[in-house]
Amino acid sequence: MVRLQKFMADCGVASRRKCEEIILQGRVKVNGRTITELGFKVDPQKDKVLVDGKKLVPVQKKIYIMLNKPFGVISSAKDEKGRKTVVDLVKDKVDVRVFPVGRLDFDTTGLILLTNDGEFAYKVTHPKHDIEKTYIALIEGVPTKEEIEQFKKGLFIDGKLTSPAKFRILKVFKGMSLVEIKIHEGRNRQVRKMCDAIGHRVLKLKRVAIGKLKLGKLKEGEFVFLDENMVNKVFEK
Ligand code: URA
Repeated sequence: MVRLQKFMADCGVASRRKCEEIILQGRVKVNGRTITELGFKVDPQKDKVLVDGKKLVPVQKKIYIMLNKPFGVISSAKDEKGRKTVVDLVKDKVDVRVFPVGRLDFDTTGLILLTNDGEFAYKVTHPKHDIEKTYIALIEGVPTKEEIEQFKKGLFIDGKLTSPAKFRILKVFKGMSLVEIKIHEGRNRQVRKMCDAIGHRVLKLKRVAIGKLKLGKLKEGEFVFLDENMVNKVFEK
């Protein structure tokens, strides 16, 4: 017997945490009964589990995709307003259901992972694994040494201190700076809020690496399938 959310993750529905939300939303039926408790256990061989009316089958082959998300694309599996999602960009070339690992804002471009491996998604997004995410940002103005120091030490955003981050100016031009930022958390609009907090609004933002996995030359809208070696780079320090 396994916990319902673990079984759902094994079937490629989403990460374990996201599956818990789906259970609480009353979208899961086991043998015809809606289940909303997180401790519920199922027998993967015998029980019939439906999510939004669709029967789950355990994933046979796990797949991992690295996509360069274009500006204006939503980083979720579905959008209630019908806007284009990262899953729409890959679904014609992928014959299994995949979902995005973590989030990028609508107006952020760059590296996003898609998978059908719920345990992998859980590991990547869990703070315990402390994975570094690298961004290139175009920001207004030129930050002073003091502002950069403040950024590195941690800033209060939404009433909570951020963990130490890295900040490096790559280029200065026309009153703007191109900077490299490395953070370990994944709070909502975190890079934008941190830059706002030191008085330098983000004009453009792109994620270029997760752990040691780099976006490289992949163009916006393009994606590649990752082999095990590439996948493991995400966890390299
Ligand atoms: N920080 C942001 O502000 N936005 C993102 O999309 C990712 C990190």
